[in-house]
Amino acid sequence: MSRLIIVSNRVAPISEGGPAAGGLAVGVYDALKETGGMWFGWSGDVLASGQPQIKLEERGPVTFATIGLVRRDYDQYYRGFSNATLWPAFHYRADLLQYDRHDFEGYCRVNAWLAQQLVPLLRADDVIWVHDYHLIPFAQALRAAGVTNRIGFFLHIPFPASQVLLAVPPHRALVEALCSFDLLGFQTTPDLRAFCDYVVHEAGGSIDARPAAAAEPVLIHAFGRTLRAAAYPIGVYPDEIAELAKAGERGKPVRTMKATLHTRKLIMSVDRLDYSKGLVERFRAFERLLDQAPAQRNNVSFLQIAPPTRADMHAYQEIRLQLEGESGRINGRFAELDWTPILYIHRQYERPVLAALFRTAHVGYVTPLRDGMNLVAKEYVSAQDPEDPGVLVLSRFAGAAQELTGALIVNPVDIDDMADALAAALSMPLAERQARYRDMIAQLRENNVSVWRDNFMRDLQRVEPSPSVDEASQREERTGVAN
Ligand code: G6P
Repeated sequence: MSRLIIVSNRVAPISEGGPAAGGLAVGVYDALKETGGMWFGWSGDVLASGQPQIKLEERGPVTFATIGLVRRDYDQYYRGFSNATLWPAFHYRADLLQYDRHDFEGYCRVNAWLAQQLVPLLRADDVIWVHDYHLIPFAQALRAAGVTNRIGFFLHIPFPASQVLLAVPPHRALVEALCSFDLLGFQTTPDLRAFCDYVVHEAGGSIDARPAAAAEPVLIHAFGRTLRAAAYPIGVYPDEIAELAKAGERGKPVRTMKATLHTRKLIMSVDRLDYSKGLVERFRAFERLLDQAPAQRNNVSFLQIAPPTRADMHAYQEIRLQLEGESGRINGRFAELDWTPILYIHRQYERPVLAALFRTAHVGYVTPLRDGMNLVAKEYVSAQDPEDPGVLVLSRFAGAAQELTGALIVNPVDIDDMADALAAALSMPLAERQARYRDMIAQLRENNVSVWRDNFMRDLQRVEPSPSVDEASQREERTGVAN
């Protein structure tokens, strides 16, 4: 069996028996343990001086290979092009997009450098699976270094509509780089459609007519290459989350929360403090609920856990200030001596604690302005008590809304719509809550994270290995293919 090589910007080392890590980390790590292999990426360290050295750590059949970044590379590749250009653009926030061509050069330079670090560690039949927007040029860099292995790519965030992507100055170079992979995976069909639309209408490429089986990848011809692409919605392990949630029911965090709530109901959200998550709109919709339904006052609390993220970037400092302002204002307006309407916590919690709290919450309130998938929505549903489940209020712009049709689907810019959904969720009869839960949990079990990983790996293994750069250029010379 071929070794699997996972490449991602962040490498999540998982200690056996430790608290469960995120769905992606668990899913990928499971695959690695089965096939044996390596997880390669940034160590998270930023070096003030010196030359970064690759560090190898063996854990059973899996090798973790990590490397630090020097300050300039961190600034240009991570803070700059990845997070100040691609992140806002791919989340449809062209208004926040910043572009500096030196950052783009740095992004390509770091991708090429990382690829060079990986090449000596590769074997001929390794299968390489690259993750997320930080590493779009990675396959191109590996191909330039003579690597002919199968290389797949999975985009965890949305792929934007062409008119939005065109706002990123090197859009064509990015899509050309994506076409160096053998298989592209997107979270949802709309993301796949957006990519295909760019290929056909902006890059002069073509897509073969839909394959016989709808689940099979589409065949794309562009930039002189042929590749495949499909939607592979990432999942979770719902039964494990349910176990964690049950096990935490009698734990201290849940007991404390229940004591604080008394007989009040709980609305709960967990998101990195990111402007794509629609946090301000969400707070305002909760305020609208309290405004419009005075009976809810002192009868419901809203817990927002929002751990810090990318805190050295201006846009993130701004959203933090804005959110602190909104929670202070709303609490000042409605709080009573024995009740604080919004409990806003700017800290990270362990996943077992979150799972247990989700089970306590009557409403899971997941309303990003844009999100590739949003695993919190899936974790909230998984954590529910089947006998007395809570209700999910979910943004139509989260990838998860394509699958979790048992949620109350809202438009996160429509404050009244969200306030109405909260009111409906808080008063929903048990039979309806159970029916919606059954619908969603069946879907989560059927498409758990193993299914995501196995489907992607199956399609990647089926791809013919790429011709070497020399073979490809000889072929191009013979056929005159290039567009
Ligand atoms: C999103 C991205 C991931 C990223 C994570 C945390 O989920 O898709 O690739 O790792 O955010 O962001 P950070 O910048 O801290 O890695």
